[in-house]
Amino acid sequence: MAAVEPVTKIVIDTDPGIDDAMAIHFAFAHPGIRVLGLTTVFGNVNIERATRNARWLAEHAAYDCDVAEGAGVPLATEPQTPPDFVHGKEGFGALPPFAPRKALSSLAAHEYLCRVSNDHPGEITLLAVGPLTNLALALRQDPELPQRVARVIVMGGALNVPGNVSEYAEANIIGDPEAADAVFTAGWPITMVGLDVTTQIRCTPSDLALIADEAPGIGGFLRDATDYYFDFHQRTYGERYCYMHDPATVAAAVQPDLFKYERTPIRVACTGENVGQTMRASSGPPVDVCIGVDTEAVKQLFIETTVKADLRKAERDQP
Ligand code: BDR
Ligand code: CA
Repeated sequence: MAAVEPVTKIVIDTDPGIDDAMAIHFAFAHPGIRVLGLTTVFGNVNIERATRNARWLAEHAAYDCDVAEGAGVPLATEPQTPPDFVHGKEGFGALPPFAPRKALSSLAAHEYLCRVSNDHPGEITLLAVGPLTNLALALRQDPELPQRVARVIVMGGALNVPGNVSEYAEANIIGDPEAADAVFTAGWPITMVGLDVTTQIRCTPSDLALIADEAPGIGGFLRDATDYYFDFHQRTYGERYCYMHDPATVAAAVQPDLFKYERTPIRVACTGENVGQTMRASSGPPVDVCIGVDTEAVKQLFIETTVKADLRKAERDQP
C-alpha cells in the first residue's frame, strides 16, 4: 500500500493582493496542504475588495474552504491608503473586478480563527500574509488560542534589511504595529518570513508564462494579474521580476528546512520614526526569524506545484 502523505491543515489570513493570490493558489494546489479557510483583512485593498477577492479565488479554483471577513481598520493607528500602485485598484493588477457567488461565513475572521482552532486543536498552521489585526483580535477574544495552534507563519517584518514602506518598516507590520507586537509576543510557535528572505526569492514573467502554459485557467489568471506586479517591481527596482513575499510562507509551512533561522524575541516599534520596525528584544517568547533561504528550491516548489493547479482543480470537480 502506498504511504499516505501527511497533510498540513492551514488557514490563510490574507489581503488579496497579487502575491496573496500566488500564495493561495500555491497552497490550494499543494498535495500536502488542506486549506480549511481564508480569513480576510484590509491591506493591499480595502476589506470589501479583500473579501470579494478571497471568495473569488476559492470559487475559481473550485476549492471547498470557508471564507470569513475580518478587520477593515487597524487596532489603534490610522489606516494607510491601499497601495493600488502595487496591486491595482481591485487587487489583481489590471484585471477587472470579479463577482463571486461563494457564500461568506457568518463568523467574523477572529471568531472563525478561535472556532477552527477549537475544532482542530493543535493541528492548524496559520499563514498570516496581511496586517495582523485579525490575529490580535482573536488573541483578545481567547487568550488560550496560542495553545491550540500548531504554528503561526507571518509574512512580515525585516530584521537585518530595510523596510519596504519606510527605511524601517515592512508593509504588513506598519499596517497594524500594535497587532503585530501582540502577535509576536503571544507565546505561540511562530515563524517570521520577512523581507530578509522574501526579497531574495524572485520570479520572472517567463516563470509565470510556464505556469500559464501548463495550467491555462489558474496559471493564466496568475500570469495576467502578475503583469502589473512586474511593472511595479520594474519601476521600483529596475528589473522585471517580482518578490515572492506571501508564497514564501507556504514553502515555510511544508518545507521549513529550505530556510535558515535565528531564534530571538521580537518586538515591534509602535510609535516614533521607526514605527513598524521589527526588532530583536532581550526578553520575551522566541520567534523563528528566517534569515536565509534556498531561493531556487522555493521557486521550483512554487512552479512545480502551481503548474498542476488546473489538474488539481479537475480532480476536485470529480464527483
Ligand atoms: C507584503 O505586503 C503586501 O503588499 C504583500 O501582499 C505582502 O503580504 C509585502 O511587504
Ligand atoms: Ca499580502
